[in-house]
Formats: sequence, structure tokens, C-alpha cells
Amino acid sequence: MPTTEANAELPVFDAEFVDDLYAKYREIRSETPVQRMVTPQGMQLWVITRYEDARNALTDPRLAKDFRRTGEIMDRMDRDGGIRRPFNSALNEQMLNLDPPDHTRLRKLVVKAFTARRVENLRPRVEQIAADLLDAMSEHDEVDLLDAFAFPLPIQVICELLGVDEERRDDFRQWTNTLLDASSAEATSQAGAAMAEYLVELIAAKRAEPADDLLTALIEATEDADRLSEGELVSMVFLLLVAGHETTVNLIGNGVLALLRNPEQWAALKADPELVAGAVEETLRFDGPVMHGTLRHTTEPVTIGEVTIPEGELVWVGLASANHDPDRFEAPESFDITRDAQGHLAFGHGIHFCLGAPLARMEGQIALRRLAERFPDLAPAAELDDVRWRFSTLIHGLKTLPVRLK
Ligand code: HEM
Repeated sequence: MPTTEANAELPVFDAEFVDDLYAKYREIRSETPVQRMVTPQGMQLWVITRYEDARNALTDPRLAKDFRRTGEIMDRMDRDGGIRRPFNSALNEQMLNLDPPDHTRLRKLVVKAFTARRVENLRPRVEQIAADLLDAMSEHDEVDLLDAFAFPLPIQVICELLGVDEERRDDFRQWTNTLLDASSAEATSQAGAAMAEYLVELIAAKRAEPADDLLTALIEATEDADRLSEGELVSMVFLLLVAGHETTVNLIGNGVLALLRNPEQWAALKADPELVAGAVEETLRFDGPVMHGTLRHTTEPVTIGEVTIPEGELVWVGLASANHDPDRFEAPESFDITRDAQGHLAFGHGIHFCLGAPLARMEGQIALRRLAERFPDLAPAAELDDVRWRFSTLIHGLKTLPVRLK
């Protein structure tokens, strides 16, 4: 049980940490690569910061995800009732929060519906949505790149993929913002409830009127006479909607920021648009958009190097830190779209490896390529040193990114 006194010695995962993420992680990685940290709510967790350790942790079954056990561990620490649960419990029952065999079962069903062909079939739509947004931007001299482009592109894609009505998309932005940022427990639970209610309606409508879309495919997906229950469908659609847009928004936002900060890389991309695949991989490595870390808990004591993490503790696998480990990536703090960034952990690793990676890569590549073609003179409209990051333990994204287009 953590005490305030014991916590005083430990690094705190707060807004200041997030604003200086890589330098803070560098310090921890070089001094005590596996160590305890404290969340702003006073909850202790262990952080794993080296690449090798993080990669191994992601395939170690003793580092588990089951949300019920995670909840119990949080309850044990939650002496003051101040710890914010990551999500509304009705939406927790999805594969990202479960271990085998539950995880295996759900993932199998979803993979049947969310196929490579379904993603590839979306390509012309993604191109069209990007082109329309860029057209709308060209009427202005300056825009917030997040509002005008990075946000609407992936949300439109994931909403079309699942069949969410156009009028509800702003609600979605609000709900997911509340759920992912460090909002109050009450706001989080209200947003979760509103979203769950809407998803139930959406699924009922789709059952009544099946279409050629992912949601219909999820409803109809079967495996050995098994299918998703109503509750599992709601949680799954929730996971896809949240994972499918907040992440890709920040892939685009963080990518453009890195390109603006490194004009020679922007010039290289404009000169050779084929470099865009490398630009996306390097963005994922250099400044990954989601989950600078991902949560696990120990089901038994786990020894990493010289440290033994006891059973029943929360563990944060530091994806962002791992991607900046100089033992794995040379000159990790330079952004180089021609480097081989393969092996980065931005999409995770092992059984939970991101199911949406092909879609995210496609969207990121189309976004950066078309932006470079359309606005080759893109420049920051404010001091880049002053950019502010959203404070969240789940996502790593900017609050705004003002740019000049001409
Ligand atoms: C899982 C990152 C986009 C759906 C994950 C995990 C990471 C991740 C790190 C594993 C977490 C863990 O091991 O705890 C990203 C990044 C994205 C992105 C960086 C964008 C650049 C997407 C998209 C979708 C998606 C577009 C869907 C439309 C999922 C799902 C899982 C997942 C369903 C859970 C897989 C499982 O538990 O087996 N993602 N994601 N992601 N992602 Fe993504």
C-alpha cells in the first residue's frame, strides 16, 4: 500500500512529465530502468523503460490485462476514492482488457470481420475524405491542423466504417475526449454511459437494416457457432471507435509537428513522396500517438534485470521510452524518415498487437502525402517550442497545431 511519504521519493506522472516526456524517460531509463512511479491520483505503478524489457513484457503471460483484476488492484490502492477508472465498466469487456482464452475468442471473431480486404476497400474513400478536407482548408491562410485535418479525417473514416450517423460525430469527439483525458470520475462515467446508450441504439438499427459495413460483419461474425454477445458488441464497437480515431489523429498531428521541426525531412518527403511510408513509421517510433505506455498487472512475482516486481502490482510498459532506447535505435532523438524504424513498439507487440495498424498506416500515409503535395509551403503559425500536449496517460497528442498554409 503506497504512503504519501513513500510516494514523495518517486517520479510523478503529471502534466510536467508529459510535457517533457522523452527527457524524463531518458533519465529513468539510464538510472533505474524498472522502477515505481506515481500517478497524479497517488496510485503507484511500475514502469518498464528499456526496449528489450518492454518487448519481453508484452509477450509475458505473467503480465496480464484482465480488467476485473486490474480493478481490484486499483481498489486496494484507492484509499481516498480519487482514482479515476480508465473506462466505464459497461465498456470494459473488450479484448484489449482481457487475457487468453477470453481475448483469443474475441480477437478471432473480430479478425473475421475486420479483414485486410475491408481496410483496402476503404482506400478510395480515405483519399476522397482527405481531398475534401484539404479543399476546405485551402480557403484559409492559417488553420489549426488538428481541427481542420488530423481530427476529422480518422473520425470520418472510422464512423463510416462502422456506420455512425454524421450528426453524432461531434458528440463522439466530446465523449472520447472526456474518456481519454484526465477528466473527473463523474464526467468520465457520464460520457461512458452516453456513449454506451448510443451504441446500443446503433447496433439495434444495424440489426434491423444490415449493410455492407464492419458493424454488420461484427454482428454476423461467427466461429464454431460462437458469436459476440450484445454486451461484447457494444464494448467492441466502443474500442474500435476510440482506438480508431484518437490514435490516428495524433499520428497525423505528431507527424506534421516532427516534419515542421525538421524542415530538411519535410523537403525530403516533398521531393520523394514514396518516403511517406518511412515518415509514418518514424513518426510512430519518434513520437507515437497513443499510449506512451500500456497497462498490465503481475499475476506472480516477475524479475526484470535486478528488480523483482511483486504479484498483484500495476505495470506500465513504456512504449514511448522503449522507442527512444539508444540500445535499440541509433540516435533515437533525431527524426529521420529514411531510417529503418521497424521493430518500434508503437502498435504494441504480441497477442494484443494493434488490430487497426493497417488502417492507421494507410490513413497516416495518405494524410502526410496529400498534405505535402497540396501545401508544400506549410509552416508553423506559432512558436513550435510553445506547443502544449494533452494531459492523458493513454494518448500522446497536441492540444492545437496552428499552421500557415501559403
Ligand atoms: C491495440 C496503438 C490505431 C484498434 C493497440 C495497442 C497499441 C495500439 C499500442 C496494444 C495495446 C496493449 O498491448 O496494451 C495504436 C496506434 C494507432 C492505432 C499507435 C494509430 C496510429 C488503431 C485503429 C484501430 C485500432 C485505427 C481500429 C480501427 C485496436 C484494437 C486493439 C488495439 C482493437 C486491441 C487488440 C487486442 O487487444 O488484441 N493499438 N492503435 N487501433 N488497437 Fe490500435
